[in-house]
Amino acid sequence: MNILHVDSSIMGGDSVSRALTAAVVAEQLRRAPDAQTTYRDLAAEPLDHLSSSLFAARAVSEDQRSADQQRDVVASDATLDQFLAADVVVIGAPMYNFSIPSQLKAWIDRVAVAGKTFRYTEAGPEGLAGGKKVIIVSSRGGVYNGTPLEAIDHQERYLRSVFGFLGVTDVEFVRAEGVNLGPDHKRDAIEAAHRSIADVALAA
Ligand SMILES: Cc1cc2nc3c(=O)[nH]c(=O)nc-3n(C[C@H](O)[C@H](O)[C@H](O)COP(=O)(O)O)c2cc1C
Repeated sequence: MNILHVDSSIMGGDSVSRALTAAVVAEQLRRAPDAQTTYRDLAAEPLDHLSSSLFAARAVSEDQRSADQQRDVVASDATLDQFLAADVVVIGAPMYNFSIPSQLKAWIDRVAVAGKTFRYTEAGPEGLAGGKKVIIVSSRGGVYNGTPLEAIDHQERYLRSVFGFLGVTDVEFVRAEGVNLGPDHKRDAIEAAHRSIADVALAA
C-alpha cells in the first residue's frame, strides 16, 4: 500500500493540521506496517502556480523547452505520479480565508489533469482517479460544520468537489474546528479530532 502524506499549513510546529496528519499516517502505518509513505511539505517546498509557460512547454518537445519549463514539467509530472500511485492520500488542509492554502491549490492544479485524472465524455465529466482513499485533515478557527457558516465553507466543500470530480468517492474528514475560539475549545477540538482518527483511518 502507498500512502501519500501532504501538508500545506504555513504554521510550522504550531500547526494543528500537521500534528493531525502525522497522527493519521501513524495510525495507517500501525494497521499496515509494510505501507510505503511519500511525504510532501507544500509550505516548505511549494509548487509554482500554473503558468502559460508550463502549458507552452507541454506543446513542444523536451529539447525545445527552457530550463525553467523543463523543471516545471518534471515537478508537475512527479506530483501527478505520486497522486496516481497512492492508495491513501492524507492531506492537511487548514482553512485560510474560507478556502485552502494557495500552496495546496497549486498542488491540486498539478493533479487535476485532463486525460489523467479526469476526462470529458459525451455524457459529461468522468473521474479517472477512483479506487483510492483521501483523508482530509481540516483545521479551522471557527465552527462551520452544521452551522449557518457552512455556506461560506469553501474549504471542505471545495475539496470534496475536487476529489469527487477526479473520481474519488472515498473521502473522509478528520476535523478540528473552532481552534481560535479559546484554549479550552482548541484543546477539546484537537482531542475530538484525534479520537475520530480511529474511525476514518482504515486502510484502502
Ligand atoms: C492566513 C490565515 C487565514 C485564516 N482564515 C481563516 C478563516 O477564513 N476561517 C477560519 O475559521 N479560520 C481561519 N484561520 C484560522 C485557521 O484555520 C486555524 O488557525 C487552523 O488551525 C489552521 O490550521 P494550521 O494550524 O494547521 O495552519 C486562518 C488562519 C490563517 C493563518
